[in-house]
Amino acid sequence: MTWNPDQYHRFKDARSAPARDLQAMIPEREYGDIVDLGCGTGEQATQLAARFPAARVLGLDSSPEMLTRASEHSIQNLRFEQGSILDLRGDFDLIYSNAALQWLPDHPALLAQIWTQLRPGGVLAVQVPANHDHASHRLLSETADQFRAELGGYTRFGTAHRSSPVLSPAAYAETLDALGAGEITAISKVYPVILDGAAGLLDWTRGTALVPYISRLGEEDGQRFEAAYLQKLTDAFPGKRVFYAFTRVLFVAYKPT
Ligand SMILES: C[S@@+](CC[C@H](N)C(=O)[O-])C[C@H]1O[C@@H](n2cnc3c(N)ncnc32)[C@H](O)[C@@H]1O
Repeated sequence: MTWNPDQYHRFKDARSAPARDLQAMIPEREYGDIVDLGCGTGEQATQLAARFPAARVLGLDSSPEMLTRASEHSIQNLRFEQGSILDLRGDFDLIYSNAALQWLPDHPALLAQIWTQLRPGGVLAVQVPANHDHASHRLLSETADQFRAELGGYTRFGTAHRSSPVLSPAAYAETLDALGAGEITAISKVYPVILDGAAGLLDWTRGTALVPYISRLGEEDGQRFEAAYLQKLTDAFPGKRVFYAFTRVLFVAYKPT
């Protein structure tokens, strides 16, 4: 899957608001080892390294394109590694992940695995987009159905690309409680984004949701895919202004000592 850091940053301000909220939910204390799962271009790992100068911060991401940009951040207590969240090994005092875990299936199992990497007394802080019910995602799934052959049968989560692994705040809280977590906070918040019509909505999705489809298609099929998707978006959002009620789930929990 090929990420494009420039496209991702076209909506930098809108995408950074939930990260600011997540960082504000992290308690102020001493952390030894911190990992940012799916760190992308590394801005938040850098912020964590600056905020907790005594900590050793690791930014982990599977995308070489995103990590090339991340490596431009230079701060003594920060390093980046290429690898999958699923292969995470190590013990951490703060496990942080902003807008990345939605790419992985089965969140109860995923959180159980991540939890084993958290030291007693450690903190888990996660933000995931929860806008899978939005028409833009439904129409993207419909477009993918039309291009099933060109996509080689690809489905985003292995079974049906229209399913999302993201849970409700209540379900995350229950999952964390079952893992033995304490002081659980789990919330949902809408971050409104105003976009320039259907074309603006297409541009927004180019940075994230479109990535797995476009990176599986050649240039010509990719252009046909985008055109077909844009037509559906235009039918659904004919106006010049699109109000996108972008919903996200944020949760923080402690591992008791
Ligand atoms: C939407 S970007 C978010 C980047 C960054 N956390 C931020 O908030 O700006 C999602 C990132 O998750 C990474 N990612 C997706 N699946 C991953 C996996 N299995 N292991 C590691 N990184 C992954 C992608 O490469 C991408 O950089």
